[in-house]
Amino acid sequence: MTSRKILVTSALPYANGAIHLGHLVEYIQTDIWTRFQKMRDNECHYVCADDTHGTPIMLRAEKEGITPEALIARVHDEHTRDFAGFHVQFDNYYSTHSPETRFYSEDIFKKLKAAGLIEVRAIQQHYDPVKQMFLPDRFIKGECPKCGAKDQYGDSCEVCGAAYAPTELKNPYSAVSGAVPELRASDHYFFKLSDPRCQTFLRRWTQEGGHVPPEAANKLQEWLGAPGENKLTDWDISRDAPYFGFEIPDAPGKYFYVWLDAPIGYMGSFRKLCARTGLNFDDFWGKDSQAELYHFVGKDILYFHALFWPAELEHAGYRTPTKVLPHGFLTVDGAKMSKSRGTFITAESYLAVGLNPEWLRYYFAAKLNGSMEDIDLNLSDFVQRVNADLVGKFINIASRAAGFIAKKFDGKLMHAHIAETFRADLAGLMEAAEDIAGHYEERDYGRAVRRIMALADQVNQYVDKHQPWVLAKSADNDAQLHHVCSMLINAFRLLTLYLKPILPHLAKRAEEFLNVAPLKWSDAGHLLPPAHPINAYEHLMQRVDPKQIDALLAANRESLAPAPEQQSQQRHAQHQQQSEDKAQEAVPPVSIDDFGKIDLRIARIANAEQVEGADKLLKLSLDLGPLGTRQVFAGIKSAYDPATLVGRLTVMVANLAPRKMKFGMSEGMVLAASDAGGQTPGLFLLSPDDGAMPGMRVK
Ligand code: 2FM
Ligand code: ZN
Repeated sequence: MTSRKILVTSALPYANGAIHLGHLVEYIQTDIWTRFQKMRDNECHYVCADDTHGTPIMLRAEKEGITPEALIARVHDEHTRDFAGFHVQFDNYYSTHSPETRFYSEDIFKKLKAAGLIEVRAIQQHYDPVKQMFLPDRFIKGECPKCGAKDQYGDSCEVCGAAYAPTELKNPYSAVSGAVPELRASDHYFFKLSDPRCQTFLRRWTQEGGHVPPEAANKLQEWLGAPGENKLTDWDISRDAPYFGFEIPDAPGKYFYVWLDAPIGYMGSFRKLCARTGLNFDDFWGKDSQAELYHFVGKDILYFHALFWPAELEHAGYRTPTKVLPHGFLTVDGAKMSKSRGTFITAESYLAVGLNPEWLRYYFAAKLNGSMEDIDLNLSDFVQRVNADLVGKFINIASRAAGFIAKKFDGKLMHAHIAETFRADLAGLMEAAEDIAGHYEERDYGRAVRRIMALADQVNQYVDKHQPWVLAKSADNDAQLHHVCSMLINAFRLLTLYLKPILPHLAKRAEEFLNVAPLKWSDAGHLLPPAHPINAYEHLMQRVDPKQIDALLAANRESLAPAPEQQSQQRHAQHQQQSEDKAQEAVPPVSIDDFGKIDLRIARIANAEQVEGADKLLKLSLDLGPLGTRQVFAGIKSAYDPATLVGRLTVMVANLAPRKMKFGMSEGMVLAASDAGGQTPGLFLLSPDDGAMPGMRVK
């Protein structure tokens, strides 16, 4: 078989945030696939980069008082550290802020322009007169045009879920300066995705040739509309200064928007790899390239990768992707990752609590099936499955046989061939190689894992049948013991080979123990030679301790307790207040009817922010589900960082008469505990148990 030439990418992560387990679903998935291809002796290259441009990165650097270059350099180090920690092995990990990416962005832009596919149009956009910049949708807030909820982002409402244009927001304000934005016109560059050439090309490309999986092809068909319909809109590819990115050639003050340099970062990163290794760029990206090109992406960016990107490449004279492979999102214990529950888990924290990265690789692999479905990390199932499968079924095979080989047989396998008995007694172990390879190729890793574990079950039945520990009791059985243990070592070698794309680090250590060269797929066709010497066995994998999971959640649960210096200030304030608070100690009884007059409700904190000029207050936007949204000023600033409150549930008094305060109307009150005696300083916001919904009555 001739070796295939394959170039693989994962989506470029933004350079302003930490890698978390949601990201890792994609990088681990892609890494397994590229490692598999390499084991098959295919020429396979895996490239990626940080996505470094845009307003959020510019503003974040400014807030930290550093240059964007310094920010992206720091994040690059963090990202490469995290990827290496999970054994994600790129052939090149680069940055979009690179001369190579600049070159291809300009090149593609110029070619699209020459083809008549670029148009300049004036558009109206929100402008921050204080900060003197145009505002991206995410940086404009205001009232939802549909439900009236306050403090909603410029693109969608978190309370009612409506999507809209930022120009539709009521009472908009800039999230950067707080100023009221003005609508200003500015020239923007557009890629004409609505051009008939793009339409014709994309209808064919998305529906023929298997470039996207069928479920994605259906989605794309919806976006394209019925034949004759033209649902694609032109794509705004420019942003105005100030912006961190590449300036558009011959357009001073205009910058390429991220989507005109992020995917191009795939090319930039590969170009850099070519410079380092002597590969030929055009062999992979030229119009007539015979190489295969695969993009692994989240389903949220399917639109860009399966419409915008191929249309752009096609009309700029480059090859288009062989396949765009979309996957689903990660949920943890059946729910969206959440900071307050501690399930928004960073890669760094996972490693820091001592969890083995290959446990997660294995768990994800067992759940992935090549579809766009979300996958769930169920934490108790994670512990159970890793311990039962990897340690119980797989590693134990080696640990049971290795000791006898070392002690009784001088560390060597049998002197005779065992191929025949191997095929008879462990039928299927060698024969499964091509089937398992097929599942990896199709990215149905779950199926590959199930098959491999069924083989491991078979080997464990063989162990139970022959009971080497019983054979070892009498020297008369030595020949049989040697035979059984040699069979087991061979079986372990094959299982290691099949699991190697998923467990590369463990496989490496197993190869050292087995005293073999790095295993390749073709090695499944033979067993170890007679009298093959193996090395001393060292334990290859620990069991997961459920306490590590508790530590992981605790490490990621955003602390709602006040910082130490805030605590001491509070303590001070509390002592002063103590005498005034005395009266609180004895509250006279009330009737149940009196209590019933208070309408207590579950509220979701949709937004929380500082109030300029207020020492104690935070402004909360509370979602009461069917009862709508309330704005409340709460005296909890000393105890809570507003960012940690957003999304959590609490209890509020919903029928407190609205009060006009210096900073605006307060339409209720949230409930918090505090110790009037001052023993336990702090304020403690109430939270309901899991399952409570906004708007529920509390009685
Ligand atoms: O969605 C994102 O995370 C973007 N940074 C992805 C870019 S993928 C590619 F095109 F670069
Ligand atoms: Zn709304």
